[in-house]
Amino acid sequence: MHTPTSIDAVQSMLAEQGYVCDRSLGTVVFLSLSLGRPLFLEGEAGVGKTEIAKALAASLNRRLIRLQCYEGLDASSAVYEWNFPAQMVAIRTAEAAGGADRKALQAELFSDDYLIERPLLDAMRPDEHGAPVLLIDELDRTDEPFEAFLLEALSDFQVTIPELGTIKAPEPPIVILTSNRTREVHDALKRRCLYHWVDYPNFDREMEILQARAPEAAAELSREVVAFVQRLRTEDLFKKPGVAETIDWAKCLLALDVITLSPEVIADTLGAILKYQDDIQKLQGSEAKRLLDEAKASLEPA
Ligand SMILES: Nc1ncnc2c1ncn2[C@@H]1O[C@H](COP(=O)(O)OP(=O)(O)OP(=O)(O)O)[C@@H](O)[C@H]1O
Ligand SMILES: [Mg+2]
Repeated sequence: MHTPTSIDAVQSMLAEQGYVCDRSLGTVVFLSLSLGRPLFLEGEAGVGKTEIAKALAASLNRRLIRLQCYEGLDASSAVYEWNFPAQMVAIRTAEAAGGADRKALQAELFSDDYLIERPLLDAMRPDEHGAPVLLIDELDRTDEPFEAFLLEALSDFQVTIPELGTIKAPEPPIVILTSNRTREVHDALKRRCLYHWVDYPNFDREMEILQARAPEAAAELSREVVAFVQRLRTEDLFKKPGVAETIDWAKCLLALDVITLSPEVIADTLGAILKYQDDIQKLQGSEAKRLLDEAKASLEPA
């Protein structure tokens, strides 16, 4: 598949992968592809940030390379490392064979054979299908020094390995960065990217997503599920359910042969949508019934 030439083309290309993309997200994706700019996606948990990189890679038939961020992530885990144990074995073997040529041994030890490529280096390697999609996931989990390092890597897409020289991407990868906003990402990095806040979908869009991801669910149950989750999101919760939870819940209900929501069913399956005891506690007693009644009322034709 070639780079899409319109926003509509982006939306339908992602739809083929079961990803429901609204116009505003479609627009930034289109611009990011057209201008070759990294795309920075922020939003709550489970709203489809990671998934879009997967859908994009699949629809463009590109490789997906994922750099999962975490606290303490450093350049050697992100770019490359020398395979130290293998180098040690090679040295021992050469010693045992007796008096190896030092220069030749050194050249061998620092060749591609002993290089462990991590995601950023991998993303710079040529690929016959075109530049890969590089997903830098949950950037807010790393620390600032790594962010500064990334800023540089994203600006020139080249890596210098002292023993090997400089490796430059023949074509920059398609970069998607995500953050759950547990902390603010630095302006300098944001400035380099196109930005989009991925919000919870509205009722109609969430119905579309559910139909794409759990097509076996009956329309009536899906409507109740989505209405209830939408209603639940307006409550003051520690952790609101994302789209992922809606899908999970619908699948749980299907597995239990539930046809329609009731306060009892909700109480029994709440763990699929709420993951904190405090939140679950809030829905105890008559509260679930109240929310369900309101959700059902919102479904009735006006
Ligand atoms: N717009 C969408 N279209 C289709 N599926 C979606 C959409 N949004 C979310 N999903 C579904 O929700 C699941 C969770 O999405 P994803 O993992 O991308 O969330 P996330 O925003 O990366 O969350 P987190 O911040 O927790 O990593 C996906 O597996 C996907 O099935
Ligand atoms: Mg994610």
